[in-house]
Amino acid sequence: MLNTWVLIHLIGVFFVFMALGGTFIHVINGGTKDTNKWAKGLAAMHGAGLLVIVVFGLLGLVSLGVKPSEFNMYVYLKLLIWLFLGASLTIPYKVEGSAKVLMFVIPLLAAVSTYVGLNYLMRIG
Ligand code: HEM
Repeated sequence: MLNTWVLIHLIGVFFVFMALGGTFIHVINGGTKDTNKWAKGLAAMHGAGLLVIVVFGLLGLVSLGVKPSEFNMYVYLKLLIWLFLGASLTIPYKVEGSAKVLMFVIPLLAAVSTYVGLNYLMRIG
């Protein structure tokens, strides 16, 4: 089952990343929340994707036999990155100039998440 949970986990990641990339470009082009004609669609993709990431990520941990009491710092690091992905839809509207920075930081955080998943999550429990 682990492969299935991880696949769905990643589908959540893809939706969140499309929503964030779309929003960042809109802001970089001078757009605001009001001028974003598809703000609701992007927010729905972002919210649903985040939910899928956390639910199926935790199911993946269950499949690996990791109990909540055994969560190590790497699990918390992934949760922290997940929280940051959550905040990243509104940050570009609030912090001027942040969209271009996030355009690079967000994929690098995905790389960190992947590295942690591949190297550390299987070693606990
Ligand atoms: C919400 C907290 C998260 C939890 C509990 C979680 C948990 C997991 C688990 C259990 C796996 C399978 C690991 C294995 O097969 O050994 C996994 C894989 C993966 N996760 Fe997450 N994850 C989380 C957040 C994220 C985020 C935010 C991203 C990307 C931005 C991400 C990207 C990946 C990727 C690319 C894989 C597949 C490669 C791998 O196994 O590492 N995860 N995750």
